[in-house]
Amino acid sequence: MRVLVLHSHPVEESFGKALYHETTAALRRAGHEVDACDLYAEGFDPVLSCHDRMVYHDYPENTALVRPYVERLKQAEGLVLVTPIWNFGFPAILKGYFDRVWLPGVSFDLVDGKVQSKLRHIRKLGAVLTYGATPFRAFVAGNPPKKIVKRVLRAQIDPRRPVHFLAHYDMNNCTAETRGKFVEKVRHTMERF
Ligand SMILES: Cc1cc2nc3c(=O)[nH]c(=O)nc-3n(C[C@H](O)[C@H](O)[C@H](O)COP(=O)(O)O)c2cc1C
Repeated sequence: MRVLVLHSHPVEESFGKALYHETTAALRRAGHEVDACDLYAEGFDPVLSCHDRMVYHDYPENTALVRPYVERLKQAEGLVLVTPIWNFGFPAILKGYFDRVWLPGVSFDLVDGKVQSKLRHIRKLGAVLTYGATPFRAFVAGNPPKKIVKRVLRAQIDPRRPVHFLAHYDMNNCTAETRGKFVEKVRHTMERF
C-alpha cells in the first residue's frame, strides 16, 4: 500500500531521525510505496494564518496554500507518524500540519453539523514516538499524544482500523541497549505493517 510517513525532528543526527529512516526503510522492504514527508526538511509552514482561518470551511479554496500536502494525504492508504513528544504534544510543525492540511472537505465533511470522515482510504495507522518521561509520568499526565493517536486520529480515519502504537519512554535515561531494542521493535512492526 502507499504509506505516508510524517516526521518532525529538526536534528539530522538525532535518534528520532534514525527512527524515521528505519521506519521508511522497513516499510519499503515490506513492499510498500513510501511517501516520506520530513516536515522540517520540506520547510512546512505550520502557521494557520488569518486568511487560512477565514477560508477554513470553504472547500476547495481552503486547500490552495497546501495543495501538494492535500494530494499526498488523499493518496495515502497507510499513515505513520515518527516524532518526539514535546510538552506532551506533537512538535508545532506536526500540529500545524494537522491544522492546515486536515481540512473540511479533505479529512472530513460536516453534514447537518455532524463530522463524516473522508479518510476511509487510510487502512492502517502507526506511530513511533519518543518521550523524555517515564511511562508512569506520561500516565499521570494523561498521555495526550497516545490519546491523539489511538482515539482522535483513529476516529478521524476509521475507528475499526488497527493502530500500531510504539513508544520509547524515558529517553532521559536511555542506553544503547534500550535504543537498540526499540529500533528492532520498529523494524519488526513496520516490516509487517
Ligand atoms: C521542547 C521540548 C519539550 C519536551 N517536552 C516533553 C514532554 O512534555 N514530555 C516528555 O515525555 N518529553 C518531553 N521532551 C523530551 C523529548 O520527548 C525527548 O527529548 C525526545 O523524545 C528524545 O528524542 P531525541 O533525542 O531524538 O530528540 C521534550 C523535549 C523538548 C526539546
